Amino acid sequence: MPSTVLVTGGAGFIGSYFVRRLLKKQDLRVVNLDALRYSGNLENLRDVEHHPRYVFIHGDICDAAVVDRAVRDYHVDTIVNFAAETHVDRSILEPGGFVKTDVLGTYVLLEAARAAGIRRFLQVSTDEVYGDVPAGSSMESDPLAPRSPYSASKAGGDFLALSYYATYGLPVVLTRGSNTFGPFQYPEKFIPLFVTNAIEDQSLPLYGDGLQRRDWLHVEDHCEGIETVLQQGTPGEAYNIGGGQERENKEMADKILTLLGKPQSLLRHVTDRAGHDRRYALNCDKLRLLGWRPRRTLEDALASTVTWYRENRWWWEKIKSGEFRAYYERVYGARLSGE
Ligand code: TYD
Repeated sequence: MPSTVLVTGGAGFIGSYFVRRLLKKQDLRVVNLDALRYSGNLENLRDVEHHPRYVFIHGDICDAAVVDRAVRDYHVDTIVNFAAETHVDRSILEPGGFVKTDVLGTYVLLEAARAAGIRRFLQVSTDEVYGDVPAGSSMESDPLAPRSPYSASKAGGDFLALSYYATYGLPVVLTRGSNTFGPFQYPEKFIPLFVTNAIEDQSLPLYGDGLQRRDWLHVEDHCEGIETVLQQGTPGEAYNIGGGQERENKEMADKILTLLGKPQSLLRHVTDRAGHDRRYALNCDKLRLLGWRPRRTLEDALASTVTWYRENRWWWEKIKSGEFRAYYERVYGARLSGE
């Protein structure tokens, strides 16, 4: 019988790439469990929706009955958990949903995995759990020091997952990825927000001095790293996945404007994000020892991402005219009106 992988959050940005990747590359069945909240979008998976080895289940990872049934009915032997609330600015507005999905949801999945005796549980996490990194780079063995409700919730999920390895011997592995970008990313995140705003000749709201630094990773390189850890990672271990391409936000904004041929005057320095981490950086030697390395340069990957948003307005214009408008007003309204 082929292996069956339960991918949670498979209708989200990174999850949808991972679903497609599994279906292409390997002889396994993929069960995608997704709650289809604001950023889950089945249009991200239109090309595989009728694939014979693919099943979609509409459900929440916090719902133990749904999770248990999915694991049992489809003989799931592997779980990869992408399902999460992920946006820092939303976590500042409403932390409760982050605790629920990122901590409680992870617990529900771990319990289902334990009951079914699955072969592998991969928890997808983030470099943000290490907190602000003024110098050097984070190793997997570094203490976690999250500073936003989002990163604190993800750190809670990390600790829980690792505790299931230590306590019950569940074969858990963890990945901590850096800032990820590419086509189909919900336009609340920095790159797609700035690209789509620039296309529409709207202001680009740069938080604070814009000198914060992030390490950019293309979504395909991220997924390749996750796949490597799924296949080769040692149970009980975490693996960093970073693009190794650190840039200041201001520099990224300039690049986006240049690629689109738009004026610098669209840039607006606005009130900083509360508790804004100035820098993240990952040491990825551990994953490189398993043979992984990022294959796309930031310049090429950013240019092709910008082209995709320019050519696929149908995908994001719909999003930006819906729930997103109220969110945008809450986060940026006062900031952009100069208060
Ligand atoms: P984001 O995409 O939210 O990722 P994260 O906060 O998880 O790193 O933001 C990336 C960087 O861009 C971060 O330093 C915050 C900054 N930023 C802005 O300056 N303006 C914005 O409107 C957004 C969304 C982010």
